[in-house]
Amino acid sequence: MTRHLLDIDDLSHEELLAVLDRCADPATPPQVLAGKGAALIFEKPSNRTRNSTEMAVVQLGGHPIYLKPDEVDIDGRESAEDVARTLACYHSVIAARVFDHGVLQRMAGAVEIPIVNLLSDHSHPLQALADVLTMRAEFEDLAGRTVTWVGDYSNVARSLGLAASMLGMKVRFACPLGYDPPAADLVRFAELGADWAEADVDPKGMVEGADVVVTDAWYSMGQEAEKAVRKPIFEPYRVDAALMSVAAEHAIFLHCLPAHRGEEVTDEVLDGPQSRVWPEAANRLPAARGALEWLLTATVREG
Ligand code: CP
Ligand code: NVA
Repeated sequence: MTRHLLDIDDLSHEELLAVLDRCADPATPPQVLAGKGAALIFEKPSNRTRNSTEMAVVQLGGHPIYLKPDEVDIDGRESAEDVARTLACYHSVIAARVFDHGVLQRMAGAVEIPIVNLLSDHSHPLQALADVLTMRAEFEDLAGRTVTWVGDYSNVARSLGLAASMLGMKVRFACPLGYDPPAADLVRFAELGADWAEADVDPKGMVEGADVVVTDAWYSMGQEAEKAVRKPIFEPYRVDAALMSVAAEHAIFLHCLPAHRGEEVTDEVLDGPQSRVWPEAANRLPAARGALEWLLTATVREG
């Protein structure tokens, strides 16, 4: 059976642990892509995801081919399904950053090679893997630890919520109304094993005692036109030194980047002693490599 990674809960609990083991293994990566290609489609800009995924493919012995938006023009020049069918003639894996999560689902339904989500409007699973690796480096056992998300309930927030829940963490969200997790997502977090899952509008209340504080842009790629409306709504959700001071003394700060300094986070926090944003960015490479290695091996093993 072909395995895809469109979001973290495409993996079972055991599989997530197996993927994390592969990510954390510093030994020479198995050359599962030797002589093979990986098509990397980007409908949106990227720094960390493009570079870490290309290098992961190289480390696994493969050849990455970057496809910029106008080159493939999904559902413009040809359908998402036909783009995927064509790329599957030459490549062993397709990874894509798209606006509409449904495009990834349609691609996954059309081909028998793994489809990997490099960020959609819905989720960002490789970022969540890197975030977990970063938290694990700090706190050996994540079960029972509290991660508080502050700001917009974005694609990154949803995937991190899934991963943290599957690892038995307490997940808290401090979000303005209308930008908060749907009730169904909180139920899903609890079903997946979250020690606790809640959302509230009060950042201080949600951050109090947290082990990990995380935020993201107030407006994601594709939402730039909403900036004027969103900015005043999110002002109370800036992560600054005062907000970090109510977290646990040992708390760390994470941000997937790119950061909008002075908006969702102050320089003082981003560049301060609690920040782990650079190890988090560095973890994007082992996360991509471990996920690709696991998907390709699982697809062959089960196929
Ligand atoms: N964190 C992240 O996905 O960064 P890029 O948009 O630069 O890839
Ligand atoms: N939520 C952000 C994450 C960027 C890596 C976005 O989608 O633009």
